[in-house]
Amino acid sequence: MGDSQADATRDRTPLPAPLARHYRWLLTLPTPPPQRLLDVGAGDGRLLQVAADLGIPRLLGLERKHRWNPANRDFVPTIADAHRLPFPTDAFDCVVENESLEWIKNPIRYLQEAARVCTPSGLVITDDSDWDTLVYAVSDTARARRILRTFCDTGPNGWIGRAAPSLMR
Ligand SMILES: C[S@@+](CC[C@H](N)C(=O)[O-])C[C@H]1O[C@@H](n2cnc3c(N)ncnc32)[C@H](O)[C@@H]1O
Repeated sequence: MGDSQADATRDRTPLPAPLARHYRWLLTLPTPPPQRLLDVGAGDGRLLQVAADLGIPRLLGLERKHRWNPANRDFVPTIADAHRLPFPTDAFDCVVENESLEWIKNPIRYLQEAARVCTPSGLVITDDSDWDTLVYAVSDTARARRILRTFCDTGPNGWIGRAAPSLMR
């Protein structure tokens, strides 16, 4: 999607409904609605699809590298590192990351950067899971524990869902 005007009429890969609902909820937290949105660790651009559907006019996704086939054919991420956002101060009125903070090595550095590029009246949103407190409805408890351990103990910040509120302060 790059820095271009969002076009709500594009062909899009359908998102699972609960995920789309969650993204919609997240993106309607800022009031008034944002005009310039940055999604950090944008992955395949799925959150930006929803942002386009909501009519947010200026959308930018930032990614460390091209990893996946874009869900949105027109999604072209800015390739950069979240620790050094290549944007001027106050460039956005909403900066969001979804399940990316756990992979960003220095989350405080990222949060400082997010606050810098977000206008003072805007909103910096972090949306990360506290994997350890999720309830997995599976009969194989040993497997469930292995899954939890994998989520929590791999990657630089597997416990970020729990740590993020105090880091934000
Ligand atoms: C778990 S994925 C989440 C993707 C997307 N936000 C979603 O919810 O589908 C984490 C993403 O963060 C990106 N990422 C990790 N560290 C990064 C960094 N330092 N700078 C930019 N992107 C980064 C990864 O490349 C990956 O696409």
